[in-house]
Amino acid sequence: MDRRRFLTYMGSGTAALAVASTGISAAGSKKGHGQGPPHKGHGKPLTAPFKSIERTWDNDLVLPKGYHYNIVASYGDVINSKGETFGDSADLTVYFPIDSLEGGNSSEDGVIWVNHEFPEPEHYMNMLGINPESFDSFNLKNYPKLLNMQKESVGGSVIRVTKEDGQWKLVQDDQYNRRVTAKTPIKLTGPAAGSKAVKGATTVEGTLGNCSGGRTLWNTALSCEENTFYADDYGWPNFTDEHYGWVVEVDPFNPNRPIHKHTALGRFAHENAAMGLTKDGRVVVYMGDDKRDEFFFKFISDKTYNSSSREANFNLLEKGTLYVADLGNQKWIALDYDNNEDLQTYKKYGETFFKNQADVLTYARDAARAVGATPLDRPEDVEINPEDGSVFLSLTNNSDHGNFYGQIVRFEPAKEDHGSLEFTFQVFVAGGRESGITCPDNLHFDSKGNLWVVEDFAATEDNVYSEYKNCGAFMIPTDGKNFGEPFQFASGPVGSEVTGPWLTPDERTLFLDVQHPATWNQHPGYEFGRSCLVTVEGGKFNK
Ligand code: FEO
Ligand code: CA
Ligand code: CA
Repeated sequence: MDRRRFLTYMGSGTAALAVASTGISAAGSKKGHGQGPPHKGHGKPLTAPFKSIERTWDNDLVLPKGYHYNIVASYGDVINSKGETFGDSADLTVYFPIDSLEGGNSSEDGVIWVNHEFPEPEHYMNMLGINPESFDSFNLKNYPKLLNMQKESVGGSVIRVTKEDGQWKLVQDDQYNRRVTAKTPIKLTGPAAGSKAVKGATTVEGTLGNCSGGRTLWNTALSCEENTFYADDYGWPNFTDEHYGWVVEVDPFNPNRPIHKHTALGRFAHENAAMGLTKDGRVVVYMGDDKRDEFFFKFISDKTYNSSSREANFNLLEKGTLYVADLGNQKWIALDYDNNEDLQTYKKYGETFFKNQADVLTYARDAARAVGATPLDRPEDVEINPEDGSVFLSLTNNSDHGNFYGQIVRFEPAKEDHGSLEFTFQVFVAGGRESGITCPDNLHFDSKGNLWVVEDFAATEDNVYSEYKNCGAFMIPTDGKNFGEPFQFASGPVGSEVTGPWLTPDERTLFLDVQHPATWNQHPGYEFGRSCLVTVEGGKFNK
């Protein structure tokens, strides 16, 4: 039976899973298909403790039998006594057990950092009673309330969450709860701070485009500025592009600690930041540049991580080396102006483009191109497998050259050392009908080494994504006989993307965000849905 008829016969969800379980999809899997070294796992029998749900158009967050969700915070909810409100377009949830700094692991009381990725100007115009017919989008400065709503909708939130009487809720705790917005002063660190490349700035106004991110080893949040051209995209006046597109570090436990943008990690459309350690104890941060034909980066700090002093680590991300991946040669190339002739001689528009390291970091994409790095198909989330240290990267898609469904690529650093400048790689899961998952975006590992994956695509009844219906969340074993076989755990409401998967340490709660639902979780009094943070409970997440 050809696959199309097979899919029609079975219904795409189950069929795709059935096909994947034959092992066709996992090139280089432990079954020995494909090229390169086979997966070197322990053969642990990883599988899902839930029954996969079917693809659906249902306008709800659909979960397997026995699981339920609870909305903890939605756009506009008041989070503290100052009256600050939860921002829009929730993405990334980093859960910090409330006792983290004392080495604790509370799974029922914590603070969460949530990103707020982009504003929804049409919603705010509706709320402000601005008539879209007469709206002059080129002169946003004439709409100060609308501009202010946009600036306060982005950035991130720190919120205290606790589980009481079996239910998670947002606690109005002024000690922690606060907003970081496009108006919050943020200090630049590293080689580009104060440089000509950033117009001499050492402090910039706010953060925006906060997509995904990660957690540092010293319990701060890394928030990644992704799509940041707000003058072009939203008409913001007096906007300096070079002040955005960085990795931002926030201490959720100390509102008085300055927030930093670390220029040493480069400027591009940062999706997320996955931290690990090299064998000699330096910090490594893996990062994708989410744009078609852009690059995969890693930063390695000069200094080593200090596990006995939190304070000693706060400047680790200020000094180090930024590398970019060359897949053809299976090597990381240092973007180091002083020692790289390709950077020194690179010309753009007929002129020498880089004058110093600050230029290289501020225009890291150009630098990657100058040194011959490999352009990729929208490198989004990257995470390190806790079981074996291999590095998983989502390539969401690239319709420019026919990659509509994306894939997840697994990198193995040479000598199992994140400090190594050599690696091998293989496709872990191919998106599309082979696996049943499409356009992989955010990733999260559970403690057993299962990969949790959410999708980012926009299906209509009649486009290349139709059969996948609403975006979903999946768990994919990275070992054992279900290696590379996606199990669908969630399906988001109509129009939404499910983002920010993050498990509590006891793995009894899964945090998710529902971003840009069309009408679900409707804003009271309006016709549009509100993005929100949810908890999911009711059963095990792995076994
Ligand atoms: Fe904001 Fe690349 O997703
Ligand atoms: Ca994303
Ligand atoms: Ca995305």
